[in-house]
Amino acid sequence: MTTVVIRRPDDWHVHLRDGPMLAHVLDFTARQFARAIVMPNLDPPVVTTADAESYRQRILAGLRPDRRFTPLMTAYLTDGTDPRDLAAGFERRVFTAAKLYPAHATTNSAKGVSDVRRIYPVLAEMERVGMPLLVHGEVTDPSVDIFDREAVFLERVLAPVIRDFPGLKVVCEHITTEDAVAFVLGHGDRVAATITPHHLQFSRNAIFQGGIRPHFYCLPILKREKHRLALRRAATSGNPKFFLGTDTAPHAVHTKENACGCAGIFNAPVALEAYLTVFDEEGALDRFAGFASEHGARFHGLPLNDGTVTLVREPLPVPDRLESQGVAVVPYQAGTTLPWRMVTS
Ligand code: DOR
Ligand code: ZN
Repeated sequence: MTTVVIRRPDDWHVHLRDGPMLAHVLDFTARQFARAIVMPNLDPPVVTTADAESYRQRILAGLRPDRRFTPLMTAYLTDGTDPRDLAAGFERRVFTAAKLYPAHATTNSAKGVSDVRRIYPVLAEMERVGMPLLVHGEVTDPSVDIFDREAVFLERVLAPVIRDFPGLKVVCEHITTEDAVAFVLGHGDRVAATITPHHLQFSRNAIFQGGIRPHFYCLPILKREKHRLALRRAATSGNPKFFLGTDTAPHAVHTKENACGCAGIFNAPVALEAYLTVFDEEGALDRFAGFASEHGARFHGLPLNDGTVTLVREPLPVPDRLESQGVAVVPYQAGTTLPWRMVTS
């Protein structure tokens, strides 16, 4: 097959940032996706319905006029989240979901949740109104090895939450391990997961290939090869519990290439091409549309998109750097050539 046509897809996990970085990165997502779940980890974070309404306006104001792109907003849960504001924001369709960052787990998570039991009243309200919980699933206990933080989180934190809130919809975001695949498969339809292109394409060896490679550093960190293979099986299985979420997370080049570099991989410029390469390698091109354009929308109870995108089997050289608005970012797969390219309109 040399051409793949799918219903316009959605990205269920995106960092669009704000200010000049938002202006620089927004169109890379808007040109490929009809909708995207927008992460709330700005500084300060998007906590209230009013915060989300104003961030949404800044995103819409930055869109090219010919784009048909809908940002789906999320709330950043804190120890002090007001359950009534959150539920009202969901019922008014300002919020699509709420995001749990364990405090200090990742970029701009200092105001995250210090102990999940503190937000039990919030989770009860979310369960009542049907608002999905999106989870950054890593413990922050410094005594837990960084490569084990996801597996420990599932057992210590998420399993009790799922048990205590039997109606709560939960998305395990950017899963990275065979443990997470098994966890998602082991729970009912209300538990799903997103998977990134980088966790499908690279193991942790990539971070140390001939030297330290900061552009492969993200959180949760890349894991060993057996985990990558488990993720590839899950993503290409056709199971509707698994869907596309890039976790594209741009950082200015000097903050990545740094003695203490930021976590995040900027994959938006080549997201669909990277995922399609994986599905092609796995002999699963016929399952790509489900993963990219259907499973996530069905999980969230949203309509499928109209229109299509087309990808062709043609080389796509990826630039070393992308620069605009005075911001330079190194894209995922910089300097390589991907075997598929989206046909631009
Ligand atoms: O690598 C990451 N980057 N993981 C996250 O959880 C946050 C993200 C970011 O915002 O940069
Ligand atoms: Zn993220």
